[in-house]
Amino acid sequence: MKAEDLCGNIEPSETNSNITLQEENMKKILVLLIALSLVTLASMSVIANDKGPAEITLEASMGTVNFNHAAHQERNSDCTTCHHQGEFTNCHTCHDGTAAPKAKKVFHASCKGCHVELKSGPTKCKECHIK
Ligand code: HEC
Ligand code: HEC
Ligand code: HEC
Ligand code: HEC
Repeated sequence: MKAEDLCGNIEPSETNSNITLQEENMKKILVLLIALSLVTLASMSVIANDKGPAEITLEASMGTVNFNHAAHQERNSDCTTCHHQGEFTNCHTCHDGTAAPKAKKVFHASCKGCHVELKSGPTKCKECHIK
C-alpha cells in the first residue's frame, strides 16, 4: 500500500473540530501505517544497494563459469536460497574445504541441483565450464 493511498482516505471534513474518538484512533492507525511503510521502503533500498555484482566470473580448472547473478536474483527473489548463512559474504571465505565443504562440492550441489530440480538451466559440464 502506498503512503498516498492512506493520506487520500482522510477527507477534509474529518479534520474539523467535530472529530470523534473513533476517528482520532483511525488517524493514529493511519500515521502508524505510514510510518511502517516508510520503514519498509528504507530497508528495501538497503537490500537493493547491496545486491553484489551483476555478473560473477568463477574460475575453475575445468573452465570458467559465467554466472549471471542479476538474472538469478530476478528469477529467485529469496537471496537465502543461495546465501544460506543469511549474510552476503563470498561463498569461498567459508567453503575452502576446512571450515565448510569445498566450493566445488557445494556449487555443484546448489547450482546443478536447482537446474535439475527445475528442469531449467545448464546441467552438463561444458554448458557451465567455458574454456
Ligand atoms: C542462485 C544463487 C544466488 C542467488 C539467488 C543470490 N546470490 Fe548473491 N552470490 C551468489 C554467488 C555464487 C556469489 C559469488 C560468491 C563467491 O564468489 O564465492 C554471490 C555474491 C554476492 C555478493 C558479493 C559477495 C562478496 O563479498 O563478494 C553479494 C553482495 C550478493 N551476492 C548479494 C545477493 C543478494 C542481496 C541476493 C538476493 C537479492 C543474492 N545475492 C542472490 C549466488 C546467489
Ligand atoms: C559463513 C560461512 C559460509 C558461507 C559464507 C557460505 N556457506 Fe555454505 N555452508 C557453510 C557450512 C559450515 C556448511 C556445512 C554445514 C551446513 O550444512 O550448514 C555449508 C553447507 C553448504 C551447502 C550444503 C553442502 C552439503 O554437502 O550438504 C551448500 C550447497 C552451500 N553451503 C552453498 C553455499 C553457497 C552457494 C554460498 C554462497 C552463496 C555459501 N554456501 C556460503 C558455511 C558457509
Ligand atoms: C534456485 C535455482 C537456481 C540456482 C541455485 C542456480 N540457478 Fe542457474 N539457472 C536457474 C534457472 C531457472 C535457469 C534457466 C533460466 C532460463 O533459461 O530461462 C538458470 C540458468 C543458468 C545459466 C544459463 C545462463 C542464464 O543465466 O540464463 C547458467 C550459466 C547458470 N544458471 C549458472 C548457475 C550457477 C553457476 C549457479 C550457482 C552458483 C546457479 N546457476 C544456481 C536456476 C538456478
Ligand atoms: C551448473 C553449472 C555447473 C555444471 C553443470 C558443472 N559445474 Fe563444475 N563447477 C561449477 C562451479 C560454479 C564451480 C566452482 C568454481 C569456484 O570454485 O569458484 C565448479 C567447479 C568445478 C571444479 C573444480 C575446479 C577447480 O579449479 O577447483 C571441477 C574439476 C569441475 N567443476 C568439474 C565439473 C565437471 C566434470 C562437470 C560435469 C560432470 C561439471 N563441473 C559441471 C559449475 C558447474
